[in-house]
Amino acid sequence: MSDLAVLESDALARLGSASSLDQLRDAHGDLLGKRSPLNDVRKTLGALAPEDRKKLGQELNDLRSRLDAAFAAREEELLAAERAERVADERLDLTEVKGRRRRGSLHLVTQTRDRLEDTFVAMGFTVAEGPEVETDWHNFEALNIPPAHPARSGFDTLYVKFGEPESTLVRPHTSPVQIRLMLEQPPPIYAVMPGRCYRKDTPEPRKVPNFSQIEGLVVDRGITFGNLAGTIEAFTSAYFGPNIHSRLRPGSFPFTEPSAEYEVTCAICEGRGCRTCSSTGWIELGGCGMVHPNVFRAVDIDPEEWSGFAFGFGIDRLAQMRHAIPDMRVLFDNDIRVTGQF
Ligand code: PHE
Repeated sequence: MSDLAVLESDALARLGSASSLDQLRDAHGDLLGKRSPLNDVRKTLGALAPEDRKKLGQELNDLRSRLDAAFAAREEELLAAERAERVADERLDLTEVKGRRRRGSLHLVTQTRDRLEDTFVAMGFTVAEGPEVETDWHNFEALNIPPAHPARSGFDTLYVKFGEPESTLVRPHTSPVQIRLMLEQPPPIYAVMPGRCYRKDTPEPRKVPNFSQIEGLVVDRGITFGNLAGTIEAFTSAYFGPNIHSRLRPGSFPFTEPSAEYEVTCAICEGRGCRTCSSTGWIELGGCGMVHPNVFRAVDIDPEEWSGFAFGFGIDRLAQMRHAIPDMRVLFDNDIRVTGQF
């Protein structure tokens, strides 16, 4: 019996001091397994008198359950420690960048979108949105671009596998939101519609395949090209300040007639000509024009009663010119040295 007491205190000490799960399991085998001293004692039971056998047997069973309980308790401790260590190892400190703590901020394109919305709201426009996945009808047909129209090839459209082939797409421009808005509400309409667009394009210094546009639409009685030109002029000085000038050049879009291209002085070279503007001194920021009567007819608005203008500007390019960024692609490389400047 006194041997058992020594054996128990040694065993408890060994289990308690195991510093890893492997060590603990080895200890368990040594202390309670086939070749353990405890088992040696058990083997002597058969030679004892029945009275003693019963007593020692009981004692051995009790001892075994105490050791099992000590094992389970230590195992639980070691498992918890191992979990805590793993969690600490896997923890990512997202506040620390190369040893410097800094706060995140909105991406420049998001900031620009917010600023554009504010500018247009101050000019009396409301803000609307539409889906990025569109139907061929909203994106093309209702905009006076019937099937097989040559203008379709200019959009580098990405189609979505849904329904009939080429019936569903990720929008290559925000103009389908004009259609949705005119179907939803009767004129007068004064609205801008910002959002992401997609084209099958290769990234270049002044374009990326997943870009953003802000569409503008005005429908009212007696709207003229003069209203369009004046609105664009007012917008340009409100957004860029006095140093950037804009011009409208004759353009062509199936959904506007007449149409124009909206260009501003290249902010990189201040109009002298550089790589970013292909030596022209100007950067095209978007298109605009008077809403085509066929577009009004597609949404059941009487073109004899109502007239209007529309524009679609590239948000990324507006940001690029406002901050004189020679290559737009740097905004999407996720290099914090670049994005952190805004
Ligand atoms: N949707 C045209 C484009 O992306 C731009 C535009 C919008 C032109 C509205 C005229 C009127 O190319």
